This record gives sequence, structure tokens and C-alpha cells, in this order.
Amino acid sequence: MKNIKAIIFDAYGTLFDVNSAAEKCKDQIGDKWEGFANFWRTTQLEYTWLRSLMKRHKDFWKITEDSLDKSMKAFNIDPSMKDELLNLYKVLSPFKEVPEVLKNLKEKNFKLAILSNGTPDLLNELVKSNNLDNVFDDLFSIEQVGIYKPDSKVYDMPINKYRIEKNEIAFLSANTWDVSGGGNYGFNAIWVNRNKNIFDNLDYKPNFEIKNLSELLNII
Ligand code: LAC
Repeated sequence: MKNIKAIIFDAYGTLFDVNSAAEKCKDQIGDKWEGFANFWRTTQLEYTWLRSLMKRHKDFWKITEDSLDKSMKAFNIDPSMKDELLNLYKVLSPFKEVPEVLKNLKEKNFKLAILSNGTPDLLNELVKSNNLDNVFDDLFSIEQVGIYKPDSKVYDMPINKYRIEKNEIAFLSANTWDVSGGGNYGFNAIWVNRNKNIFDNLDYKPNFEIKNLSELLNII
């Protein structure tokens, strides 16, 4: 990859493990914890897309709670666990290679930023609780534009701030639809395919697919 000036990361699922909240409660939830975690995540994302289409914006924290309520009912989870699950979502763990790779990239003097559906407060708390607060130049939150990914206004944010070309950005996401969104927009989108998933048919195929962020160091 040539002429990359900024490396922009999706947050949830790419840097931070969205299943880690439910996983930390797996003793109480039992074997269904993973199905429940996936349902919660899918419902949360559907609500972002639906609210953007309906033009009824609600912030990502409220959407996380709304989708948790539905998912707890769907999986018969004891309602008294709600606060614990929500609080754990604020301090999700990063995937294990993430801190080291970010520090390595920072030493190479790339601009590093997060571009996420999360609110500014959520993103600040996530990086702080994981001791990553000195790594990023910016935490771009969709709250600045009031609409969720994959609206192009979201992907405009780093372009407007850094005054660089779209193809000077490497954009990494584990979410196939977000790779399609950023790639169709004009970023060099890289798919972090942690779980051997199948890519989308949405008019963009990423030039690079990596299994985890450590592999980024070989291509950047
Ligand atoms: C985000 C979601 C899409 O961080 O993972 O924006």
C-alpha cells in the first residue's frame, strides 16, 4: 500500500470485542451467551440503519440499551442482569494484538484515528479504560454528523479534518458492510476477517483481507 497518511479504525468488533460483555457474564447466562451476544449486536446495528432511514436519530448508547432490552426478552435473560451487561459494554476489551499494533503504528508516525458509531463519551471511556488514550489523534464520532454509518457524511469526517485524499486513508473494519461503505466511498478499505466470514456483494471488494491487526504491519 502506497501513500497512506492516515489509518482509520472502526471501533466495535474491529478494535474492541463486542462479545466480551456477554462473555464476562457467561456463568450466569449459560451456554446461550454467544447466541445472545450475536443477537444483541445484530439488533443494535439494525436499529442504527433503521433509525437513519427513518430520520429518527437516537445516540448509540440508547440504541445499545434498546437492543439489549429486546435481546434479553428474546433469550429469556434475567432482567436484573441488565445494568451489569450495559456497564460491561462501556469497558469492552480490545482484541489481544490491538495495543501492541497501535503502538507500533504510532512509532511509524501515521495519523491514527477511530471512526465510529459510538458517542464521544463512549469512545473516550473505551480508550481510557484500555490505556489507549495517548495513541489516537482523533476519535471521530457519528454524533458530529447525526447519522450512522454507512452514510457518506460519516466517512467525510477524517477527510475534512486532515485535508487529504480519500485514497490516502487506510480504513480498517471487521464489519463487512462498513468495509463496503468505506470502500465505495473511496477509502483503501481493509477487511479484518477474524472469523472466516463471507464478504458482501455491495459493489466493493477490498484489496486486502487480514485475519487480525498484526497482519496490517506487513502491508502498510
Ligand atoms: C462502529 C461499529 C459499526 O464502531 O462497529 O462504528
